[in-house]
Amino acid sequence: MVVIDQEQCIGCGACAKDCPGKAIRLEDEKAQIVRTCIQCGHCVAICPVKAVSIPEYEMEDVEEYVPETFQISPENFLHAIKFRRSIRNFTKEPIEREKLERILKAGRYTATARNLQACTFVLVQERLEEFKLLLWQEMPGIVEKLKESAPVYGKMFGRFYEKWRQNPEDDNLFFNTTSFLVVASENPLDGGLAASNMENMAVAEGGGVLYSGYLMRIISSSETLRSWLEIGEKPVSCCMLLGYPAVSYKRTAPRKEAEILWK
Ligand SMILES: Cc1cc2nc3c(=O)[nH]c(=O)nc-3n(C[C@H](O)[C@H](O)[C@H](O)COP(=O)(O)O)c2cc1C
Repeated sequence: MVVIDQEQCIGCGACAKDCPGKAIRLEDEKAQIVRTCIQCGHCVAICPVKAVSIPEYEMEDVEEYVPETFQISPENFLHAIKFRRSIRNFTKEPIEREKLERILKAGRYTATARNLQACTFVLVQERLEEFKLLLWQEMPGIVEKLKESAPVYGKMFGRFYEKWRQNPEDDNLFFNTTSFLVVASENPLDGGLAASNMENMAVAEGGGVLYSGYLMRIISSSETLRSWLEIGEKPVSCCMLLGYPAVSYKRTAPRKEAEILWK
C-alpha cells in the first residue's frame, strides 16, 4: 500500500491529480488513499515534500531530480540509436560486474504493463561455458522436435550443430560472447522494452549486444535449458549476447523508408 505521511502532507493535491487510478483523494486538505492501486509510484515522484512512500519498495533507491543530470540532447540520442549495431564479434574481455548491474538496472526501471515489474533477468557469465555445452548437448533433441513444428529452423540448427561438432570454435549461436542475458516475461512487450533499454545502456557502457531470435527459439524448445535458467513456465521475451565489440563501424547502416502515416 502507498502511505501518505499526514504530518508532512501540505494538501497540494499534486499526487491526487497525477494518480492514474484515482486512488488518492484530498480530504480535509490532506491526501488520503481511497483504494488499492498498481503502485506506479507517481505519487512518490511528484510530492513536493516527500510525504509519500511505498514501504514494500526500497525507498532509499528513490533519487531526487537534478536538472543538470539530464544532458542528453535529442541529436545525441538519435545519433546513439542510429550508430547502434548488432555485434557478432566480441573481445575476450568480459563486461565488469558493476557495469552489468547498471545494465540490469536499465531493464528494471523500464515501464511494464500495469506496472507489474514481473520480468525475470538471467545473466549468464561465470557459468557461460557450462550453459553452452548443455545447449549443444541438447541440440539433437531440439532439432528433432523442430523438424515437425518449424522445419526451417530444425534444418538450420542441425547445420549449426554439425559445424560446432567439427570445430567448437565455429559457433553460430554464441559467436564468442562473454555473457548472455535472457529476459523472461508473460507480456512479451515488457521484456522487449526492457531489453531495448538494456541494449542502449550496454552501448553507453562501451559494450554491444546481439539479440538472438535463434537462442530464444532453442531455449523455448528445451525443458532442460529452461530449468537450468530457472525461468519456470515464463515465456522467453528476449535473449541477447552481451560483450565488448571487437569491431568498429565507420558509418550508419542504410535503412528502408519507414511506413509512416501522418493523419
Ligand atoms: C528480435 C531480434 C532477433 C534477432 N535474432 C538474431 C539472430 O538470431 N542471429 C543474428 O545473427 N542476428 C539476429 N538479430 C539481429 C538482426 O539481424 C539485426 O538487428 C539486423 O540485421 C540489423 O542490423 P543492426 O542491428 O546492426 O542494425 C536479431 C534482431 C532482433 C531485433
